[in-house]
Amino acid sequence: MSCDFLDLALPGVQKLSPYVPGKPVAELARELGLDPAGIVKLASNENPLGPSPRVLQAIQAELAELTRYPDGNGFELKKALAERYGVEPAQVTLGNGSNDVLEMIARAYLAPGRNAVFSAHAFAVYPIATQAAGAQGKVVPAAGWGHDLEAMAAAIDAETRVVFLANPNNPTGTWFGPDALRRFLAAVPADVLVVLDEAYIEYSGDDELPDGMQYLADHPNLLISRTFSKAYGLAALRVGYAISSVPIADVLNRVRQPFNVGSLGLVAACAALEDKDYLRRSRMANAAGMRQLEAGCRQLGLDWIPSRGNFLAVDFGGDAGPINQGLLREGVIVRPVAGYGMPSFLRVSVGTEAENARFLAAAARVLDQ
Ligand SMILES: Cc1ncc(COP(=O)(O)O)c(C=O)c1O
Repeated sequence: MSCDFLDLALPGVQKLSPYVPGKPVAELARELGLDPAGIVKLASNENPLGPSPRVLQAIQAELAELTRYPDGNGFELKKALAERYGVEPAQVTLGNGSNDVLEMIARAYLAPGRNAVFSAHAFAVYPIATQAAGAQGKVVPAAGWGHDLEAMAAAIDAETRVVFLANPNNPTGTWFGPDALRRFLAAVPADVLVVLDEAYIEYSGDDELPDGMQYLADHPNLLISRTFSKAYGLAALRVGYAISSVPIADVLNRVRQPFNVGSLGLVAACAALEDKDYLRRSRMANAAGMRQLEAGCRQLGLDWIPSRGNFLAVDFGGDAGPINQGLLREGVIVRPVAGYGMPSFLRVSVGTEAENARFLAAAARVLDQ
């Protein structure tokens, strides 16, 4: 007897579309017969600096332990993060990337009959995790591509268990300030979990964006999620974390997979946290690259959404699909964001100076055709 295994899956899962990652270099090389060395990938908001030497050293030293399971409690990394943010280790939840933390939240708090509130054009994992848990996603229209926090607070109802906020948001790069966050937190009922996703916060070295950590003491329903994938340059190792009140961390620990962060990730993240120079260089390279991309787009007559992340949503004014195809033929991979309700945009990650220049030159040629 043959079964329809899609039909057998949970209703929320049946309707899911899988997360679409940036196209890998090797895949484009295979498809178009291009030399992988000549391909530029600006599609996954990765750090273009390459790994920190201190991280490589830490990994090297850990290699002899590969036959052992990692420390399932991540003692050293939790301790380092707790010291960094002036919290207790029991407030820290480690994730296999911050995606893992988002999944744990959905698993622990969302189910059929419950809902999660998030903005239009917000990070794709919020709707995916919500739907996979069988909960309803309440999508609040954006204001100027960014989160409309007042409307989001107003959308909360008796069945809302979680609100997902991204500051800055991916793929729009939009952000909100401290006053808006303060008002929002004051308006949210105490029994609704506010997930403040700060995956790119390290790039905004000013007071324009609130530092979520400052609000934890007054809001036991707040969870801050951050990652080592972006400014710390560890995307391949999959290390993220949440800081929250102890009761929320305790709940997440109940659904967390044992050993969810590998040993190499744990030691690398500890080393990365100490490497202030790398973080400074990440920020500086990103700021310079952002200026380069903005200046280049201006020259090309293209509009963009101002961004505080390590990426820029560039508006091509019509269907960006053919432009994306043209860029791929030029060996430049960026990210189409039609799936985010932004069909005229392509999201371009900030790369090295040479990579940014490659994108701008390729875009000029494609637009000329
Ligand atoms: C807003 C946002 N949150 C979370 C993540 C997850 O990143 P990671 O799982 O690598 O920590 C991303 C990745 O692109 C992101 O853009």
